[in-house]
Amino acid sequence: MKNNLKNNKTNANIYIPLNGKIEEITQLTGDVRLFKIKTETPVDYVPGQFFMLSVWGAGEVPISAASLPKENGTIELCIRKTGVVTSAIHSLETGQPIGLRGPYGNGFPRDISTGRDVVIVAGGIGIAPLRPLIQHFINKPEDAGKVTLLYGSRTPDEIIFRDEVEEWKESGIAVALTVDKGNDNWKGNIGLVTGLWPEVQTNFKKAAAYICGPEVMIKAAMRDLFFLGMPDERIITTLEAHMKCGVGKCGHCYIGPQYICTDGPVFSYKKIKERSILM
Ligand SMILES: Cc1cc2nc3c(=O)[nH]c(=O)nc-3n(C[C@H](O)[C@H](O)[C@H](O)COP(=O)(O)OP(=O)(O)OC[C@H]3O[C@@H](n4cnc5c(N)ncnc54)[C@H](O)[C@@H]3O)c2cc1C
Ligand code: FES
Repeated sequence: MKNNLKNNKTNANIYIPLNGKIEEITQLTGDVRLFKIKTETPVDYVPGQFFMLSVWGAGEVPISAASLPKENGTIELCIRKTGVVTSAIHSLETGQPIGLRGPYGNGFPRDISTGRDVVIVAGGIGIAPLRPLIQHFINKPEDAGKVTLLYGSRTPDEIIFRDEVEEWKESGIAVALTVDKGNDNWKGNIGLVTGLWPEVQTNFKKAAAYICGPEVMIKAAMRDLFFLGMPDERIITTLEAHMKCGVGKCGHCYIGPQYICTDGPVFSYKKIKERSILM
């Protein structure tokens, strides 16, 4: 995996953001938008890495890459309106500037998927960092065996990338969706994403998993996969923490003996147990 600091050619001073320009905005759900941001020069990164996104006068927030790198230098970021900075980002329009530092963090290890079935477990906005991983497995099917996505949302209206999910199915990804609360049109599963394990046609002992979602879901999914026989080193998750610098200098993201920004944000269950993160 690349070291983000050594490979950060975006700016000589790591605290000075790269100039980005919003090329396109798509409303995905009530409070989630997809921003296509064009950078001056193409930026290379891997799924699971994140950027510090800044709006002048509002501040900076960590946001995961939601697409694979593109030659034209466009990065897609899927952002839920949560508070001060994400609201400022949502108030921007096409053509307006936006700052971007990164890529930061380690990204998802992909060597563990080779020759193995893969289970991807997403909850809510957690689908955002997993989307480029899904795109990768569609583009390079030889990098994994059968890929199954288990994706939970609060309601049917809050399923992010709903149209794309249908395209993923057509591209060979097995998908099981669930919602906490259905509506009159919803004929699918209702309940927790961790209730979907019977939908996965695999030998869990030989498979690998990538997880992203709320902390409570991550903990439950990791424990279930462990009890289903998956080895700790192949249960992979991405963790969140409050961040300021994104580059291991300020200490804001220090949990246990780990900086989430530089040691993570992606960790194996093995490392989480060894370092007492999230316990
Ligand atoms: C590595 C990483 C990747 C992320 N990727 C995405 C992404 O792809 N899309 C996305 O929408 N969001 C993502 N987030 C979360 C996003 O950074 C926060 O929602 C954002 O920082 C909130 O900032 P704000 O100024 O809008 O809200 P604030 O006004 O700062 O806070 C609003 C509320 O959210 C809480 N909050 C703020 N930051 C966090 C956090 N990191 N974890 C838990 N609670 C928090 C605050 O305590 C407060 O209750 C990511 C976070 C991390 C650490
Ligand atoms: S965000 Fe500053 S050390 Fe991680």
